[in-house]
Amino acid sequence: MSMESKDLIDVGGTWTTPHGTERLTLVDPRSGEEFAEVVLADETDIDTAVAAARRAFDSGPAWPLADRLATLRRLADLIEERTELFAETMSAEMGAPAAFARMVHVGGSLGTLRTTIALAEAYPFREPLGPSTIVSEPVGVVGAITPWNFPLHQALTKIGSAVAAGCPVVLKPAENTPLTAYLLAEAAIDAGFPTGWLSVLAGRGPVAGAALAAHPDIDMVSFTGSTGVGKAIAGAAAANLTRYSLELGGKSPAVILDDLDDAGFANAVRSGLGFCLFNSGQTCAAWTRLVVPEARYDDTVALVREIAADYVPGENLGPLVSALQWDRVSAHLQRAVEDGAEVVYGDPHVARPERGFHLAPVIFGRVTPQMRLGQDEVFGPVLAIQTHTGDDDAVAIANSTAYGLSGAVFAADEERAIAVADRIRSGVVHINGLNTNQSAPFGGFKSSGIGREYGRWGIEEFLEVKSIQPPARG
Ligand code: NAI
Ligand code: MG
Repeated sequence: MSMESKDLIDVGGTWTTPHGTERLTLVDPRSGEEFAEVVLADETDIDTAVAAARRAFDSGPAWPLADRLATLRRLADLIEERTELFAETMSAEMGAPAAFARMVHVGGSLGTLRTTIALAEAYPFREPLGPSTIVSEPVGVVGAITPWNFPLHQALTKIGSAVAAGCPVVLKPAENTPLTAYLLAEAAIDAGFPTGWLSVLAGRGPVAGAALAAHPDIDMVSFTGSTGVGKAIAGAAAANLTRYSLELGGKSPAVILDDLDDAGFANAVRSGLGFCLFNSGQTCAAWTRLVVPEARYDDTVALVREIAADYVPGENLGPLVSALQWDRVSAHLQRAVEDGAEVVYGDPHVARPERGFHLAPVIFGRVTPQMRLGQDEVFGPVLAIQTHTGDDDAVAIANSTAYGLSGAVFAADEERAIAVADRIRSGVVHINGLNTNQSAPFGGFKSSGIGREYGRWGIEEFLEVKSIQPPARG
């Protein structure tokens, strides 16, 4: 089998031979087999791409809003036409099962982009404030650094909001998922992005990523990934007073209150476990802690055993992205056992499979906030069950981690659920299931990040505000 090889990077809309020469081999996590190779950009390539973006932004005339939005609309249509290609590429790069790749990875990305376009169309970029005029202008050149877990969605969300706001983007995708990013680059060229408005460069985080975050000629860096790297990026950006926005990890709770009947309770557990295992648990917002009434602990254990058995690795549950990720998750499982968590389902001592990086769900019970599994983001199909003794205790447990990204509250009484949601320190709280308004903002409290994506707030991340004061008269 001949390997696909990508020897060019996209600098400002032109496929270009990079200055960097390192080659990186991509491994299909479903089989563990090598399937493609890319050449990696280096610091010099980042300089070239930033310069192209800088010229596009500085040497106007500006790309008008209506044209930007029309082009983003064409981009959405092109990606939709190419759904199969995007889905197959993501399946090969990060393992998502075909149906999930099409519906969630491609479909979800398009939903977010089209919502952003509609909101930008109506956005008051220029509005009166009494006798003054308040103008919202693009912040400038954006460096975007994205992860592998939602390779299209995270990149497209940043590009959509930034371009809607009027900012050119230099994108450094994750090492595992450059081909998805290159398909996006191709679609942007075909949609008619002008020269310099989008560059896409495969590269290593500590090389190309670090060079982009520290670049004195970018105006903002938008990052999604681990909390550790987020701190490094914030430090690099701070040295230049570059604006930054960080969407980081999570340890989000699904809290079930004590007023549900048996059917309602079973639904809540199914929903909670479902969004823990979403994308094989490789989801920043995943509800990885299920916080249930103490009196319902045994019911919970029985239910999760039954529900987890429906998730079959290699069928409806994709593998983990890489051998490295599999080993990281395995290490979290060992720590949970060492800390005395109760194994409720699955085998925490299972060995890495011969072929591919599959892992069946593992569920622990009686996980306390003192255990590492009560604190650490695992990023795999691993659930921690915790118990509470009432609403106040449930709130305390929900808030017992350094993170605050997502969460859910389930109750028969919706007002009571919302009262608990009000007390959870996180950027998103769902009520009685995963129902998402795409115009609503998303982002983290505490160690889950700084800033918001999606909707009006996602566009405002990329805007500077100017006050034009009323003319002074003599
Ligand atoms: P990571 O944070 O290292 O990678 C994310 C992006 O940052 C990639 O594009 C990477 O190349 C880049 N990067 C890495 N080091 C950099 C640096 N020094 N300067 C600039 N950019 C840099 O995440 P990784 O290693 O793939 O996964 C490790 C853990 O991070 C996961 O187990 C999970 O807990 C968490 N994670 C969270 C994500 C989220 O959506 N919040 C996404 C991916 C990972
Ligand atoms: Mg890393």
